Amino acid sequence: MTTAIYPGSYDPVTYGHLNIAFRAASLFDKVVFALAINSSKKCLFTLEERLDMIRQGIAHYAKEKNLNDSNIEVTQFDGLLANFVMKYEKPAIIRGLRAVTDFEYEYQMALMNRYQNYQVDTLFLIASLRYSFLSSSIIKEIARHNGDYKKLVPPYVYGRLWEKFNNQSRENGKV
Ligand code: COA
Repeated sequence: MTTAIYPGSYDPVTYGHLNIAFRAASLFDKVVFALAINSSKKCLFTLEERLDMIRQGIAHYAKEKNLNDSNIEVTQFDGLLANFVMKYEKPAIIRGLRAVTDFEYEYQMALMNRYQNYQVDTLFLIASLRYSFLSSSIIKEIARHNGDYKKLVPPYVYGRLWEKFNNQSRENGKV
């Protein structure tokens, strides 16, 4: 049984992430969305909110594209990714490459993960062109300023972002 571990901070998950995960799901027996607890990033959403959005996003993407999601799991992990992956049978780390600029950082991470654990390989999928300009930060930036991002995230994530920024504006007395 081969397992693709797809790590990230997913603050929030986007169609770009889901596209990579579902493509990996057709290549591997199992895909695990692995949300890093100890990410150095300061996140907008709590851990629970991010897990919830990934789960809802998977269900929506599967329904919309008529895909099977029964081999996709969601979990969280703390500590080093290179250690965490060993919980699974025949694991490989999956990463999406959006542009050449991603390569340098990904190359460094892949080598460091293998340095930590020689059994861990990283496989790269080229991000779909239609989502290759996405990042979670850019989505939050557009959402914060009421821009158009409706087709770039699942409806549930869109709603959560809308709530987050509108409630924040209200709390700050802007609405
Ligand atoms: N579509 C859309 N967006 C994508 C994407 C895709 N296919 N691939 C990446 N992104 C976005 C991410 O959402 C993220 O956006 P943000 O920076 O605006 O939040 C950005 O691209 C960078 O992604 P990434 O480098 O994967 O950051 P991350 O925080 O999501 O994940 C971990 C980093 C969690 C994988 C890494 O820190 C880790 O493994 N941590 C565990 C501790 C550890 O082992 N550290 C040593 C690693 S060598």
